[in-house]
Amino acid sequence: MMGNKERGLYIQLFSIHGLIRSKDLELGRDADTGGQVKYVLELAQELSKRPQVERVDLFTRQIRDRRFSSDYSVEIEPITDKARIVRIPCGGGKYIRKELLWPFLEEFIDKTLKFIKREKLDPFLMHGHYADAGYVAMQLASLYGVPFVFTGHSLGVNKKMKLLEDGASEEEINKKYFMKRRIHAEESILAHADLVFTSTQQEIEQQYGVYKNRSVPKYVLNPPGIDLEKFYPYYDDSQGKDNLEKQASVAVQDELNRFFTNPDKPMILALCRPDKRKNVSSLIQAYGESKDLQAIGNLAIFAGIRKNIEDMGDNEKQVLTEILLLMDKYDLYGKIAIPKKLNFTYEVPELYRIAASRRGVFVNPALTEPFGLTLLESAACGVPIVATNDGGPVDIIKHCDNGILVDVTEPQKISKAIKEILVDEQKWKRFSMNGINNVHSFYSWEAHVDRYLEKIDSMGMKSIEQRIDYPMENPVARRMNALNKMLITDIDHTLIGDKKSLQELISILRRNRKSIGFGMATGRTIDSTLEHLDEEGVLTPDVLITSVGSEIYYSGKAHQDTGWSAHIDQKWEKHKIERLLSTLPFLKIQEPETQRRFKLSYFMEPNEDRLHQIHNLLVKNRCRYNLIYSHQQFLDILPQRASKGKAIRYLSYKWGIPLENFLVAGDSGNDEGMLRGEPRGVVVGNYSEELELLRGKRRIFFSKKNHAAGIIDGIHHYRFLEI
Ligand code: GLC
Ligand code: MG
Repeated sequence: MMGNKERGLYIQLFSIHGLIRSKDLELGRDADTGGQVKYVLELAQELSKRPQVERVDLFTRQIRDRRFSSDYSVEIEPITDKARIVRIPCGGGKYIRKELLWPFLEEFIDKTLKFIKREKLDPFLMHGHYADAGYVAMQLASLYGVPFVFTGHSLGVNKKMKLLEDGASEEEINKKYFMKRRIHAEESILAHADLVFTSTQQEIEQQYGVYKNRSVPKYVLNPPGIDLEKFYPYYDDSQGKDNLEKQASVAVQDELNRFFTNPDKPMILALCRPDKRKNVSSLIQAYGESKDLQAIGNLAIFAGIRKNIEDMGDNEKQVLTEILLLMDKYDLYGKIAIPKKLNFTYEVPELYRIAASRRGVFVNPALTEPFGLTLLESAACGVPIVATNDGGPVDIIKHCDNGILVDVTEPQKISKAIKEILVDEQKWKRFSMNGINNVHSFYSWEAHVDRYLEKIDSMGMKSIEQRIDYPMENPVARRMNALNKMLITDIDHTLIGDKKSLQELISILRRNRKSIGFGMATGRTIDSTLEHLDEEGVLTPDVLITSVGSEIYYSGKAHQDTGWSAHIDQKWEKHKIERLLSTLPFLKIQEPETQRRFKLSYFMEPNEDRLHQIHNLLVKNRCRYNLIYSHQQFLDILPQRASKGKAIRYLSYKWGIPLENFLVAGDSGNDEGMLRGEPRGVVVGNYSEELELLRGKRRIFFSKKNHAAGIIDGIHHYRFLEI
């Protein structure tokens, strides 16, 4: 097998929610189509430029929804010659906001596994973005035995605290945002991630800092890059403005000129969403209370686009009204611009360059600022900055030395800092140059990917060595994907019962290990199964279907198949069924350890009428279930979608192994379901009465030999080694 070393890195990025395509991003179309979408796309682009990277796939959810462009429905869309977007369907075609995607992530994982197998891909690294994709990448990385890297973008605990502050109740938050599930996933991501990329130092300390598993992962401070082709310095016309840029520049100037009496004065600029936390009112107050500042420069506030303030949400309405009232209060007519529109693609960079040409400053007065993209973009164009002493800006000023941090709760401090820059030409020039140069070296995608590859390089090499040590056993997904046939056998009275033939079967399986996968299906729990196999000296199979098909495991109990759990969970009301059945006097509950999340088990003396009574009771109460009665004494109630047979069908689907390439062996009634249908069925000679009804059925072989000898007989009967 050729290692990744020769072939170059194949990196899989996961970003599940939002509307993402290779061009014309609809940023801001909704809350899920924001910075993260841009971040992952630009990361994929830059990674794919590197010679050591062979390919980058960005996995996202496929959206087939008439309300959205059909671009989002295309399965594979190239980004560059080495990067592409791969769209995986889950949860139907309709667009779903990110908080509601949680129930569909297992489906996303399963379909991604199938895609990887179909395309014969050999992943090297899985990188999840945001908790949803973090969960998906974590599961897949563990199945493939590759490193798992995570970027949070935003974190649940933080969001929850903000929502609580805004007066929401814990219950509401859980219902609307699946918050418990999200935070739980984030904790387990932290416990398993090989690396966590963060954009600021504060993110590590204050955001991850409140998680239980905060100190487990290795954090790498690696801020994203900004688009330096768009945000180039104000003096730099070497690339020559294109037509759209020229038009944008004129449009911005026209818009500003509607407001200013002296448009050529230095411009104090702020650009943000109309949100209370952005705290623009403090900036207007600072300006309004400083006659000096009003004499030196104009103030331009771009607080989102608007048509009619009255039609906006409460928060926005309040912020914009306050701005207008302050303008009036301080009588700032002719000095302050509050434009109504701004085109983000072309006009924002022009706006920054206009501000720089007019020797202005960019101000970010937000109370808290997790990152501060606008500060970086304006700095790249050459505008010195005055920013809140919080979060991202602290790192920016540290790395770029291009402005002043202030306590934004004190307006005089804001005006003092602005004045300091505007009146000192040397200082202005130094900050302007520093911003341009240092944003380039710290906040470009080039710098980001340099740090990225440097970090994963050492990790990656280790995983290649591991792969050479354990070419087959580990990891699960590589093993399962390589298989094209499987033997699945019941344990008690089928596999086990005759030591000599068991040893013979095991050595056949050992010799054919490369092509035949080995699995068992049993009524026992996982722990009891493993103990039993150990006592009997049987090798641990690739797959264990336990508790009558309600659980699936790989490599012993190292990996439980969460996709299967999610699949059978549908309409399963365990407690309701338990309550109903407790009223039936002839049912005796089995030992506590046999009761599972998806299995209720009882003892019951045989009696037709009793089975009727149970069905009547459950159906009348609209329960969904699957009832299995076996050995004239065991009664199992499972979710409707669960059984040993259905578990085998699921394995066939998930790992792309054709059903007819399964050989299934059993001895009793609870094996009936898995013996029927497409798989090649083998009934061992020592079978119990109930299975007589399978005689003469298609693809059912009744062996005359008992136990494992019967299975071997079946292998020969079907020429299973040859197919
Ligand atoms: C095993 C399980 C038991 C189940 C029976 C039949 O004995 O321990 O809970 O009822 O199989 O499936
Ligand atoms: Mg049996």
